[in-house]
Amino acid sequence: MVLYTHKKDLKNALDSFRGDEKIGFVPTMGALHKGHLSLVEKALDENDVVVVSIFVNPTQFNNAEDLKKYPRTLNEDCELLKSLNKNILVYAPEISDIYEDKVAAKNYDYGGLENEMEGKHRKGHFNGVGTILNSLFRIIEPDFAYLGEKDFQQLQIVKQLVEIEKLPVTIIGCPIVREENGLAMSSRNKRLSPQLFEEASIIYKILTEVRRHFKEKTLEELNQMVTERFLSTPNLNLEYFEIADEKTLKSASSKSEDAKYRAFVAVFAGDVRLIDNMPLN
Ligand code: PAJ
Repeated sequence: MVLYTHKKDLKNALDSFRGDEKIGFVPTMGALHKGHLSLVEKALDENDVVVVSIFVNPTQFNNAEDLKKYPRTLNEDCELLKSLNKNILVYAPEISDIYEDKVAAKNYDYGGLENEMEGKHRKGHFNGVGTILNSLFRIIEPDFAYLGEKDFQQLQIVKQLVEIEKLPVTIIGCPIVREENGLAMSSRNKRLSPQLFEEASIIYKILTEVRRHFKEKTLEELNQMVTERFLSTPNLNLEYFEIADEKTLKSASSKSEDAKYRAFVAVFAGDVRLIDNMPLN
């Protein structure tokens, strides 16, 4: 593992791999956990060299407090990546190496994907994600980039970004890695008290219930079931629950045989915002 903090040095190092060798890329904001590592392992299996970026991107945070409290653990992250003992280049830049003139996001039209769910509740979030990933893709020029289904809306939007920006990279979606209690792994879980960590496992249980009853219950019944389940869990506050079409991410109004549906949820556990999702059919 080698750590780079300047894009110039990273690009120089990558130049020796360009040509026949495949470059994989895993973008992250650090505070790495097994979910991130599953992406890195898959990238290592499928490429000759893997770049892992660690950058808490200010332009994708709609909430200043969330940005301030976001865990930053670069030393531990590097130790974890070192222990994989493979061909890994870590890129952990300062803000000025990425945003040279001003810290601002570009405006993207992702064909409406940005107006659903996370887009409604985190204004400008996907402009920030698009801006940083566009910059990182142009610096690294990877053949493959690995993103988690944990952020399913982000995954679909990044596929769209690649079309818009005409970037020669293939986006690979990777399954959600969970804690033993079912809670989706997330850097934000570090901020949960042990009690909330246990209570938050109900998110997975509720999603599993939705999947189990998806065929026989109506969408209304499923929505009502979820709302009631969260109302009886006082320490978790439901922000939204939606059953949506995987392609359009629009809330389903009826069940069509041809469509693939997924349940999406955002929940506050204290002041920690958690998201999760699960395929239903
Ligand atoms: P971050 O939250 O650090 O996540 C980095 C990548 O890890 C994302 O693709 C995310 O979906 C994936 N990931 C996180 N938890 C996971 C889990 N439990 N199982 C599987 N994959 C998981 O997402 C971001 O950072 C940022 O928005 C970024 C893409 C880096 C742009 O700044």
